[in-house]
Amino acid sequence: MWADALAEEVRAAYPGVHLSLSVSRGYLLLFLITIPNAERGNGLGTRVMQHLISAADQRGIAMTLNPTDNFGADLDRLQDFYRRFGFITNKWCGEIGASGESMIRVPRNSSAAADNPACSSSCCQESTV
Ligand SMILES: CC(C)(COP(=O)(O)OP(=O)(O)OC[C@H]1O[C@@H](n2cnc3c(N)ncnc32)[C@H](O)[C@@H]1OP(=O)(O)O)[C@@H](O)C(=O)NCCC(=O)NCCS
Repeated sequence: MWADALAEEVRAAYPGVHLSLSVSRGYLLLFLITIPNAERGNGLGTRVMQHLISAADQRGIAMTLNPTDNFGADLDRLQDFYRRFGFITNKWCGEIGASGESMIRVPRNSSAAADNPACSSSCCQESTV
């Protein structure tokens, strides 16, 4: 599974980073990213996210995630963090065929996205929300 290989690649490039990724219904789901305590606030999380979105763009796959304060983060700040990488509120969450996560990011590589069935549905269109 290429998502496992991508997670492994990130772990090798950024030792200590915990990452849980999977592909679910055509979306790349970032289940969890955790930066070691002592290394937070120094741009490591940003570099890891850039690595992930670059891989998603190459494959033309939309990313989804559910920001949570379960791991000690401030929720508003965390949502702002993900918005920096192009994540938006998933207003289709709960609709049939849409991803069930609360934030979504449309791939920037539109030609690859056109080949991905999940991205031809309304749930992958850019939102102004
Ligand atoms: C959120 C996290 C991945 C960010 O990684 P990082 O290396 O600290 O981030 P960077 O240094 O690249 O960027 C800093 C930005 O991270 C976000 N951030 C950092 N600490 C945060 C915290 N405690 N709560 C929410 N967001 C935080 C902010 O957007 C911050 O920017 P700001 O200072 O302008 O508000 C990291 O702090 C972490 O592992 N947190 C605990 C685990 C967690 O909650 N993961 C997300 C679960 S969905």
